[in-house]
Amino acid sequence: VYPDAREASVKVASDIANLIRARNQIGQNTVLGLATGSTPIRVYSELVRLHKEEGLSFRRVITFNLDEYYPMQPEELQSYVRFMREHLFDHIDIPDEQIHIPDGTLTREEVYEYCAEYERKISEAGGLDVQILGIGRTGHIGFNEPGSIEKTRTRLVTLDELTRADAAPAFFGEEHVPRRAITMGVGTILKAKKIYLMAWGEAKAPIVRRAVEGEISEKVPATFLQKHDNIKVILDEPAASELS
Ligand code: F6R
Repeated sequence: VYPDAREASVKVASDIANLIRARNQIGQNTVLGLATGSTPIRVYSELVRLHKEEGLSFRRVITFNLDEYYPMQPEELQSYVRFMREHLFDHIDIPDEQIHIPDGTLTREEVYEYCAEYERKISEAGGLDVQILGIGRTGHIGFNEPGSIEKTRTRLVTLDELTRADAAPAFFGEEHVPRRAITMGVGTILKAKKIYLMAWGEAKAPIVRRAVEGEISEKVPATFLQKHDNIKVILDEPAASELS
């Protein structure tokens, strides 16, 4: 638990940077699982600072984003492609072909094979070294909404009404929020070698308590993270305020 989100984000970014530097030194790739939304923004701005001011190189980094709305065109204001460019990729030296974000432009017929291929690409890259996560008020990680079981993999899902309501301001009205998304599964996330679950602010306190201290159940998919043996839950004081 950190006094504020800024300090916590600097710590997460510094852990990630240390791993990248160690791998760079021995000529090995680092595979990062990335999240969007408001939670990781300061982690990305610190990684950008480390690149610009301290020479941290992303040439050997391979990334896989958790999710994308479906349908979604990459140039749209709310697309996670655009989000990742604006907050991270446009400001670092990662080669484009090492970036993977679920494709919101596919036809329904194409999605199934695409998701299987996304899983294959993660495996071929050597698996996720680090996965960073935010948490939704439904208890979702990625877009694994209540009902998502432990063994789920990358797939097309239906968004919870609460998630769509939370996204409404960004879409200028709930009626414009897509009903579906492509997301890595709970099982995909649990295979990461290290996980950081981050949450900031009072509004996340009740779901943080359920995720960390509640019974493990698909009713709150984030509770499956309790089974992971190398996870850090990084909170500011308000988000931690309901923990016993
Ligand atoms: C985003 C994602 C979501 C968000 C969650 C919290 O890629 O997978 O699970 O992490 O909805 O969103 P924010 O950070 O905006 O509160």
